[in-house]
Amino acid sequence: PSLSEILNLHDFESIAKAVMPVKAWAYYSSAADDEITIRENHAAYHRIWFRPRILRDVTNVDFSSTILGHRTSMPIYITATALGKLGHPDGELILTRAAAQHGVIQMIPTLASCSFDELVDGARPGQVQFFQLYVNKDRGITKRIVQHAESRGIKGLFITVDAPQLGRREKDMRQKFEAEDPAEVSKAGKDLVDRSQGAARAISSFIDPGLNWADLQWFKSITKMPLILKGVQCWEDALEAYDQGMAGVVLSNHGGRQLDFSRSGVEILAECVEHLKEKRGLSFPNEKFQLFVDGGVRRATDVLKAVALGATAVGIGRPFLYAYSAYGPEGVDRALQILHDEFEMNMRLLGAPTIKDVLPEMVDASNLRSHIVAVP
Ligand code: FNR
Repeated sequence: PSLSEILNLHDFESIAKAVMPVKAWAYYSSAADDEITIRENHAAYHRIWFRPRILRDVTNVDFSSTILGHRTSMPIYITATALGKLGHPDGELILTRAAAQHGVIQMIPTLASCSFDELVDGARPGQVQFFQLYVNKDRGITKRIVQHAESRGIKGLFITVDAPQLGRREKDMRQKFEAEDPAEVSKAGKDLVDRSQGAARAISSFIDPGLNWADLQWFKSITKMPLILKGVQCWEDALEAYDQGMAGVVLSNHGGRQLDFSRSGVEILAECVEHLKEKRGLSFPNEKFQLFVDGGVRRATDVLKAVALGATAVGIGRPFLYAYSAYGPEGVDRALQILHDEFEMNMRLLGAPTIKDVLPEMVDASNLRSHIVAVP
């Protein structure tokens, strides 16, 4: 189908599946074990309903907002996904350019196919970029990576904390990772490549399972970048992150690729907002401690639900990979344009002229929790 026939972000997935090399499809689409969490990520949004307001002047709607103090045209960001060149020879650089064009922020992954410097050099002057960090067992290497990122102007360090070991993604494991080449792993992952069990296993053995709370103060001592923990999955850890002076957390289960039966980010969001309010008197969205969500976000309505519940912004991963794997850069351009159009229409229908008008009472999340969360 031509791009003009692509009407929503889901469409990219089915086209990508049909046209992508099997190995690349397996790596991008796979999730842990029985793939229950990946389904739940999107399904959770189906348990949240809107309570729109009427008769508000919505002639002009403005869905721009800020993330860590930086302007974004919509409350989304392009989250970090490894091995960008599996789907297209230009890899993550496509996302860098699309981010610039649409005024959104890209999070550069540690395991990008393009080199870090290539992605920073590929940005426009003043373009804000974040960096996702996998912490190496060798802290000397980690320190160098972090300080290099800061020196190149990275505005936020997202430390991935949900991957002490990579999850079992069986669809991916059935493919042998044969990439000698160029294309697929940049230097970060080259050292310890085990080619027998899929792309994910092949590139992940340097990650330190010993990473723990005591390390966070070390990170604060080596960088001034705001630190955000990516992969928080319960309010207790969000509270600890706040107490340790983090700038925020991403409530995420890594797109369902790590612990299967992890709950969805948006469900965790609701519990974090409740407990951080009760125990630390915080209200959200909050400038000093920002809550982000990712996983299964495919519609502007999903984003608006998370924003209503208190998220500063949400991360979107696979749809952009599918978009460029199927259609190249124009695919990502189209994906962002679709989101833009969806925001405009849905904010009108919601009766919210600006993002600040998207309030908790505009959603009914009373059935969000698929189980009862005990308050100790
Ligand atoms: C990821 N994700 C991820 N996260 C991370 O911290 N470091 C990484 O290297 C990767 N790599 C990666 C590769 C691929 C192919 C996918 C699909 C995901 C997780 C990612 O940042 C994010 O949490 C999810 O992708 C969000 O879910 P959706 O939007 O893909 O449903």
